[in-house]
Amino acid sequence: MEEERERWGSKFGFIMAAMGSAVGLGNIWMFSYRCGRCGGAAFLIPYLIILFLVGIIGLMVEWTLGRKNKAGVLDSLINCGFPGGKYLGWIPIINVFLIFSFYAVIEGWCMKYMVMSLSGELMAIDPGPYFGNFVSSYEPLIWLAIGIIATVTINSFGVRKGIERACKFMMPLLLVLVVILMIRSLTLPGAEAGIAFFIKPDLSKITWDVWLNAVGQIFFSLSLVGSTMVVYGSYLRSKDDIPGSALIVALGNTAIALMCGFVIFPAVFSFGLDPASGPSLAFITLSSIFQQMVGGRFFAFLFFLLLFIAALSSDVSMMEPVTEVFVSHFKLGRKKVTLLLGFLAFLVGIPCALLGWFLDLLASVVTTMILAPIGGIIVAVALAWFVGVKHAREEVNEGASIKMGKWWEPYVKYIYPAIILVILILGILSYFGIFEATW
Ligand code: PHE
Repeated sequence: MEEERERWGSKFGFIMAAMGSAVGLGNIWMFSYRCGRCGGAAFLIPYLIILFLVGIIGLMVEWTLGRKNKAGVLDSLINCGFPGGKYLGWIPIINVFLIFSFYAVIEGWCMKYMVMSLSGELMAIDPGPYFGNFVSSYEPLIWLAIGIIATVTINSFGVRKGIERACKFMMPLLLVLVVILMIRSLTLPGAEAGIAFFIKPDLSKITWDVWLNAVGQIFFSLSLVGSTMVVYGSYLRSKDDIPGSALIVALGNTAIALMCGFVIFPAVFSFGLDPASGPSLAFITLSSIFQQMVGGRFFAFLFFLLLFIAALSSDVSMMEPVTEVFVSHFKLGRKKVTLLLGFLAFLVGIPCALLGWFLDLLASVVTTMILAPIGGIIVAVALAWFVGVKHAREEVNEGASIKMGKWWEPYVKYIYPAIILVILILGILSYFGIFEATW
């Protein structure tokens, strides 16, 4: 007998799970270093424009494809007759799996720093050299394994009892942590300079590169890689409100990113450090801040706990589309599948943990600049051209509190995929050095 497909237990549970996926290292670690590098507030203007132009629509597109087909991306493509769907459907699935492998490495760093702040060791190190030594040792492998075990444990319990339940607990806790850290940071002496950096834009800083960073940031941050949100959409019921939920998740995700900016920049400026220090911002710059701050050890612990929770709730959403294929398409048992995938992710994670260039390659180029937009386009084309925009609009409006008008059809058919195509082309050009971009 065919097993019944899992469903989210409640609307709140779904929103928490989707927020759990969206809010991740992308919001805290990547958002702050990108924003710092792109001139602070100047980054926010393209970021907000792209959020409304593509972010919210993107969530609707991916959830609608999943709910319409009651399937993850592979079976959705096969169902709607996408040419070569049974092969192309693997691209977004493999991509999210690669993201999972490198993401779990960085999550491991967060756990290490969380434990170090708890033990007090963080307060006595020299942050720069310490971080350098740590990432070039074998120790990250241990933390990688712990991160993967935590993810496998949650996913093995399934959609409702595993992912939804964990996110219903983790996301409110995350919000409390962000608020506490924000209050601490905003009340530091000299915080005003950081606040100004983050809210007063210098329009001359908005270059093409900043736009590209903003688009990349929105797609990654909303988990729009063509697999995660499709499978999350496939667990929705027809009475669930897709446009309303897309608005809540997109705005909620941005609110958390902005709050994280208010945690990081006032502190960075208060201690006279460089906001544009890049990916090491969270581990080197912030560690030296915590060392000097009153109550630093406690706040360091809260901060790295925040990073860990954010990463874990995103991890589970990266593993789910891969798990789902094996469970629904190949009819294997969930427990077995999650265990096996955890092991495979560890194997792929090994070179990421040990070789900096491999981590960079996966993190910036392959997965976010090239494979993610390919996944995004495949899903958009499948929905708009093969399911058909008319049926897609009926589906997105089913259970919706705000109905999408006729404009939605040409938008999803032409404009949305065209925007992703531009990102893909620029991504490929910058990969080959033809177009200058910092990612
Ligand atoms: N959205 C997550 C973040 O911001 C990352 C992610 C990407 C999660 C792709 C799932 C799929 O960190």
